[in-house]
Amino acid sequence: MPTAIEAALARYPREILTRTPTPLDRLPHAGARLELDLHLKRDDLTDLALGGDKPRKLEYELAEARSSGATVLVTCGSAQSNHARLTTAAARRAGLDAAVVLSRDDRRVFQGNLLTVYLMGARVTFADTDEHWDLERHAQALCDELRAGGETPYYIPVSGSTPLSCLGYVRAGLELADQIARARLQPAAVYTPFGTGGIFAGTLSALRVRGIGCPVIGISVNRGTDRCRESLDTWWPAIGELLDLDPARSRGPIEIHDGYVGRGYGDATEECLDAILLMAETEGILLDPVYSGKVFAGLCAHQREQRWRSDQPVVMLHSGGTPALFAYHAELRAHLMRRGVELAEVL
Ligand SMILES: Cc1ncc(COP(=O)(O)O)c(C=O)c1O
Repeated sequence: MPTAIEAALARYPREILTRTPTPLDRLPHAGARLELDLHLKRDDLTDLALGGDKPRKLEYELAEARSSGATVLVTCGSAQSNHARLTTAAARRAGLDAAVVLSRDDRRVFQGNLLTVYLMGARVTFADTDEHWDLERHAQALCDELRAGGETPYYIPVSGSTPLSCLGYVRAGLELADQIARARLQPAAVYTPFGTGGIFAGTLSALRVRGIGCPVIGISVNRGTDRCRESLDTWWPAIGELLDLDPARSRGPIEIHDGYVGRGYGDATEECLDAILLMAETEGILLDPVYSGKVFAGLCAHQREQRWRSDQPVVMLHSGGTPALFAYHAELRAHLMRRGVELAEVL
């Protein structure tokens, strides 16, 4: 018997882009270093073009695109946008074209995500902007141009976040709740990234429906806490409306921290690079400097203040983003050298 939320989710068509569930792994070595019982939800392992959070979101958008007769998916993001990579991959998997507007930022190197976007044959245009989260008007202009050329574009906003696509993270949150129950964990906290807040809002909705009442902690990757809370105020009732949940239902204990952003989106802070190294050296798991490294930096900082006891399970969501590592090779190299790694022979 499906539960009410599963029945409500089943009303929305989706086109499957990845096999699920992704694993929930216990990380004994990183946990021992941090003196907590650390668990990682491996959404970096979704199986579309190097993985990450987007396939879950795009499954719903792709179904919408199909029903609108789209011939081309259009989106926007930073030059190293994971979302551009995965929208392009989703389009290709569906036999469609992709067109992306990217910000003319200083990560415009032929590396990481940008390389893959070209490899999969997206039409790429660059636009000047201070805020890649605000490229929508450029993307809309591109849609007009495509329409004039006889195409049927389907626009997907930055980060792939819409109320509908948040359902992908409601599904992920239900999956996580089942895994938590099966492992008989009583998590002290669940950490997620917070960009537009789609992942956070979807996951939070599902955990609360399943009765998991621990603090859900969002680590902002770009904006101040107030702006993040405003985004959550949009997603929360919108998800409720889609799933017949009370829009005014309690969110339970939540925290959104903006102290790990550094100088701005994509700033590979010292503590983020340290967090990436810690995870890589202890567990052989790769984080990225823009999202998952920041989340882990926040968790590590909390643990320096001994926030969680060593027997308390703490869950972190790894949302992917690892291809961006390669666009940050200079910072990573310098960081390793500062930590005494000998790289003189390496070109
Ligand atoms: C790897 C990764 N994690 C997290 C996010 C942020 O997700 P949200 O916008 O749903 O907060 C993004 C957004 O692009 C991303 O690429």
